[in-house]
Amino acid sequence: MSDIRFDDRVAIITGAGGGLGKEHALLLASRGAAVVVNDLGGNPDGTGSGHTMAEIVCKEIEAAGGKAVPNYDSVSTPEGGEGIVKTAIDNFGRVDIVINNAGILRDKSFANLATPDLEAVLDVHLKGAFFVTQPAFRHMKEQKYGRIIVTASAAGVFGNFGQTNYGAAKMGLVGLSNVLAVEGAKYNITSNAIAPIAKTRLTEDLLGPMADKLDPAQVAGLVAYLVSEECTLTHEIFSVGGSRIARVFVGLAKGWIKGAGTTPTIEDVRENLEQIMDTEGYTIPRSAQDELMALAPLMAGS
Ligand code: NAI
Repeated sequence: MSDIRFDDRVAIITGAGGGLGKEHALLLASRGAAVVVNDLGGNPDGTGSGHTMAEIVCKEIEAAGGKAVPNYDSVSTPEGGEGIVKTAIDNFGRVDIVINNAGILRDKSFANLATPDLEAVLDVHLKGAFFVTQPAFRHMKEQKYGRIIVTASAAGVFGNFGQTNYGAAKMGLVGLSNVLAVEGAKYNITSNAIAPIAKTRLTEDLLGPMADKLDPAQVAGLVAYLVSEECTLTHEIFSVGGSRIARVFVGLAKGWIKGAGTTPTIEDVRENLEQIMDTEGYTIPRSAQDELMALAPLMAGS
């Protein structure tokens, strides 16, 4: 089978000045994509800024014969998002791929979380993905082609101490991706979420002895596959780290039904908890409509 290529495709990768984003950029560029290497160039907590990080990655791509242009806008404002997409259009004439990867950390236990720590994290992760993806999505709709990735996290999908701000932002991204998958379907636009695990400046102190076995380059292969033309997977979530890649999903259990026109009482819930909690025979709805359609015959028939 032939290699997967990205010739004539244009990719925006946010936060691509280091860590995971850099690996996505290097891999896509090595397979022919023209890449906008966006990075604010600040500190892990979102303070500061600089041009060096994005520039170094672009130089590395160019030295290897690839095409890249740096962008230093913050993803966290509508103007920043527009600017990033404009960089792609001005330099390469289109945008096919958006990898929302920029991120910061402001970890605090919930009781100690200050409002600025909530806002900064929501701004970069959650609003940042809105601000970059929306102008790109408009182009994708017109050209009837697009591939979108959001970078979620186990901290949101599964929960993690001290990360209410980050976990909420990351699970918010899953919601964004799911709706983009639904809205993008008729335009050949896919959207998927990854929950990566890798040693980067954000995590090197958190991963303990496993850190050295978790190379960020091990995440890029999945991301590149998901944004390739031949991949039509959409509305999915993947855990990816080390060399393991695994589907994560939100399943709907069969549940317990009291009957059409009836109202479950508090005691009904207690008495039927086992059936409510039973995961056997679960389904994975592709949309809220999907869930509703599955509920309709149950309501009619009981
Ligand atoms: P990193 O710190 O190396 O990469 C994040 C990049 O985003 C940095 O280069 C930073 O300068 C850039 N950035 C921050 N704020 C920005 C803004 N407002 N505008 C543009 N760029 C900005 O860390 P890492 O680990 O590579 O993180 C990449 C993504 O993966 C983040 O979204 C992070 O939350 C997520 N993630 C990482 C995990 C890991 O194990 N490394 C685990 C789960 C999620």
